[in-house]
Amino acid sequence: MTEPTHDPELHSRRASSFGEEAAAYAEHRPDYPRAALAWGLEGVAHPAKDGLDLAAGTGKLTQGLVELGVSVTAVEPDPGMLAELTRLLPDVTALLGKAEEIPLPDVSVDAVFIGQALHWFDLEPAFAEIARVLRPGGIVQPLWNHDDVSVPWVAEFSAIVRSGVSQAWASGERTLDTPPGFAPFEENRFHHAQRRTVDSLLATVATHSHLLVAEPAERDRILAAARAYLLSNPATGNGEFDLPLLTTVFRARRL
Ligand SMILES: C[S@@+](CC[C@H](N)C(=O)[O-])C[C@H]1O[C@@H](n2cnc3c(N)ncnc32)[C@H](O)[C@@H]1O
Repeated sequence: MTEPTHDPELHSRRASSFGEEAAAYAEHRPDYPRAALAWGLEGVAHPAKDGLDLAAGTGKLTQGLVELGVSVTAVEPDPGMLAELTRLLPDVTALLGKAEEIPLPDVSVDAVFIGQALHWFDLEPAFAEIARVLRPGGIVQPLWNHDDVSVPWVAEFSAIVRSGVSQAWASGERTLDTPPGFAPFEENRFHHAQRRTVDSLLATVATHSHLLVAEPAERDRILAAARAYLLSNPATGNGEFDLPLLTTVFRARRL
C-alpha cells in the first residue's frame, strides 16, 4: 500500500490537523451507513460485544456502533477531537491513544473499526497492535466515505476541491495486504448520502486535511472556485441537495 503523501513532514502535519477544527468536523463531516458497520459485525465469528473505534475523531462512527448495540471504546490521539467526542457521547469510554500503541489490554475486543483514518497510520505497528487487542475470530474493518464520482457533477466538484486521499480506495488504486495473523481482506461498497447546501458542503470540504494545512490564499482560491461551481450547477445551486457518497469497506478476521 502506498502512502497518501510522499512527504513525511506534510503527512504528519495533515494527520494531526483535525483538532483545531474539531467542532466544524463534528458538524459537517458525514456519518457512516449503518449497513456498512453491520457488515463488519457480521464478520465476527462469535456474537460481537466489545468494539474499538480507533482514530475515533469526534465520534461519527462511534455513534453508529452505539446505535447497533456495541459496547464501544473510542481511542483518538488528538485532545481537541476527543473532547468533542466526549461532549457528544458522554457515556462512551474515550481514551487518548494512537493506533501504533493502543491503550487496551490483549484480546479484549471483538471488532476494531477505523473510519477515514487508516491512511494516517504506520501500518506495520498499527496492525500488530490491532492483532494484539482483538479476540480470535474478531474483525478489523477500515472504511472510507468518499464522493461518488460516477455522478458527473460530483466528479467535477471533486476535481475542483481535490477531495482527499480516500478516493484512491474507491478506484482500486490502493489495496490492503493481509496483515500477519489475519485472513485476507474482503471488500464491500455501500451507497450513502449527505444532505447539504452550498455553504454546508463548503464547510465540509474545509475540514479536509489538505485544506486545513494549505496556505490561506490557496485555501480561499479552492473554496471560491468550489462555490462558483456549486452555484452554477442546477443540481446544487437551488437550496438543499443530497451529496452522493460511496462507503468503501474492508474487513479481515483475526485468526
Ligand atoms: C479524518 S479523521 C476521522 C475521524 C473519525 N474516525 C471519523 O470517521 O469521523 C482522522 C482521525 O485520525 C486520527 N489519527 C491520525 N493519526 C493517527 C494515529 N496514528 N493513530 C490513531 N489516530 C490517528 C486524527 O487525529 C483524526 O481524528
